[in-house]
Amino acid sequence: MRSEEINGNIFYNGDCIRGARKYIPDDSVDLIVTDPPYGINGDRLHQHYNRDETFVVEGYVEVPAAGYGEFSRRWIREAERILRPGGSIYIVSGYTNLYHILHALRQTGLREVNHIIWKYNFGVYTSRKYVSSHYHILFYEKPGDRRTFNLESRYGIGEKGPDNGSPNYRDREDVWNINREYKPGKTKNKNELPTDLLVKMIQYSSNEGDLVCDMFLGGFSTARVAVGLDRRATGFEVSDRVFDLKVAELRGLGQGWLLPSLRAPQIAGHKNRGRTWTGDEVEALVSRFALLTASGTTKKRAIEVLESELGRGRWSIRKMLVKQGIIARRGKGGGDS
Ligand SMILES: C[S@@+](CC[C@H](N)C(=O)[O-])C[C@H]1O[C@@H](n2cnc3c(N)ncnc32)[C@H](O)[C@@H]1O
Repeated sequence: MRSEEINGNIFYNGDCIRGARKYIPDDSVDLIVTDPPYGINGDRLHQHYNRDETFVVEGYVEVPAAGYGEFSRRWIREAERILRPGGSIYIVSGYTNLYHILHALRQTGLREVNHIIWKYNFGVYTSRKYVSSHYHILFYEKPGDRRTFNLESRYGIGEKGPDNGSPNYRDREDVWNINREYKPGKTKNKNELPTDLLVKMIQYSSNEGDLVCDMFLGGFSTARVAVGLDRRATGFEVSDRVFDLKVAELRGLGQGWLLPSLRAPQIAGHKNRGRTWTGDEVEALVSRFALLTASGTTKKRAIEVLESELGRGRWSIRKMLVKQGIIARRGKGGGDS
């Protein structure tokens, strides 16, 4: 199977079931975010939102509706195998074949965490029935270890919105209002997932340096966002044409390219949040970190300890340690233990 490597991230041009079996070890992936083919005969679904087909990449490979149940069972079994205990999987599905996906999931040891409804714009206009404008996102976990869920990665739990409500609570409701991206004049895969949707799943359910896999890369949107958030990425796309085009686009993006655009959550207890680091503080950070790790504390735990000692967030501490050359930037197998 042909593969391409981009900054240590490997992508495979081929069938995900065969490819995962051959190339992805058991329990090695931290997070799977994927949007399988729809299995709708006639493949009309894309007309919902890509009104102008001129810029749609040909080569999207459909799965025959008749074999969808078996196909779902096979790829979901592989997904379960490669996911680490405590790993998460998000599967985006329309309603037509939802029952096949749910049925396939029931035949694994994966456990439901949430059944999310993603409400999008540009549903197909109808006059004799309601307009269909949602997808299902099945959020499951592989039991066996603690699942990553970064509660305050986007909004602090103590933050208040303009109406005095809690943006953290709202962000974590299981109905998501996220608009599709309209990209006039840009070449895209049919049904490309919006960046905001992917950022949300990846921020909550993984950490920098974690490995994120998409079984059906399509327009490589999951990979693009995973790399943008400084995660490692891998995945499969069976269409040669889509694969070549999207690999070329991904090559132009740097690891962590999305990080500067992220909102910094306000987390209570971090009294020095937002303040410029002083020389003394940097010195204290470096020496305390060295002391803690020398005494056997893991890097991860040392950062947690320093969070409360210095009144600064985890991200800010990591960033400063990287800047001082004390720890490596995550992304090339160098995660905190
Ligand atoms: C719904 S699209 C994924 C869209 C993607 N999430 C995005 O945002 O662009 C599904 C993709 O799976 C690909 N595909 C179909 N069968 C496949 C298989 N057996 N293995 C890997 N990819 C496959 C299709 O060619 C299509 O590009």
